[in-house]
Amino acid sequence: MDQDKNERDKKMTSHYDAQWVETFYDEYGEKEWNRLIREPEEEVKLHVHRYYLEKYIQPGLHVLEIGAAAGRFTRILVELGARVTVADLSSGQLDLNRKYAAEYGFEHGVEDRLHLDMCDMSVIEADSFDVVVCYGGPLSYVFDKAGDALREIKRVLKPVGVAMFSVMSLWGAVHKYLDGIISLPVEVNRAIIGSGDLCPATYPGNNHHCHMYRAKELEELLTSHGLMVLEMTACNCLSTLWNEKLAEARKIPEQWNQILEFELQACREPGCVDMGTHTIAVTKKENHHA
Ligand SMILES: C[S@@+](CC[C@H](N)C(=O)[O-])C[C@H]1O[C@@H](n2cnc3c(N)ncnc32)[C@H](O)[C@@H]1O
Repeated sequence: MDQDKNERDKKMTSHYDAQWVETFYDEYGEKEWNRLIREPEEEVKLHVHRYYLEKYIQPGLHVLEIGAAAGRFTRILVELGARVTVADLSSGQLDLNRKYAAEYGFEHGVEDRLHLDMCDMSVIEADSFDVVVCYGGPLSYVFDKAGDALREIKRVLKPVGVAMFSVMSLWGAVHKYLDGIISLPVEVNRAIIGSGDLCPATYPGNNHHCHMYRAKELEELLTSHGLMVLEMTACNCLSTLWNEKLAEARKIPEQWNQILEFELQACREPGCVDMGTHTIAVTKKENHHA
């Protein structure tokens, strides 16, 4: 068993640095609240993430939101009637979550706020939550500790619970940032693309560290930790790089609604799942039927 765990976990080559993540998000501050509304293509991404929350969250469910940050999705979860426990590694983001909850009136749905690392959630009892939401890349930040995080998520989830993730996508990121990428030395790009790791070992001097997943790799990681994948989708495979056109379409509801409709459809096609900047996966514990 331990040997299996080691085999799985050593595929992730870089080392998790919790202190780096915490400092990065403390300093990122208010920008996190605006991240998913600052450009039309981010709004499309928000729409796809929200669509899957609407599908799986029913009023009264107990939801653990890991990496909730400033609360963009906390607000949606509360609007859907969930009882939310907010968790994050960054105390600065937790402060912002509290601030925006008061400002936008979603504090009533927040049951608790926990300053924790999802790799060790021993403060939470087993089988506590109906749903765990881990949107926006926490699983991309923990690098070689992704297995620990998944074991913890599975532990705190009720037997029939659902866990929802979104992670940074390797090919989606390459697509979006291709202009900058081609100006880097080929050895740097080979190291990043080969491992999926954006970190000092692959790209010295870069100020954002994360593991970018291939969709297949994410699926294998989840299933090898006892989480059965119910759905996998990209979130902006059509819209990425079309900000100007999207801004025009945004003013014409029929056009905007068409974009959202077709984006949802395209993103879950097997040929497109790798091509958004994030990949979403909805899972449940194995041996339990949803
Ligand atoms: C990009 S933000 C995502 C915010 C929000 N969930 C969203 O999707 O818009 C990532 C958040 O995950 C948190 N995070 C990263 N690693 C974590 C860990 N190991 N445990 C708890 N939170 C973590 C960061 O502090 C940050 O607030």
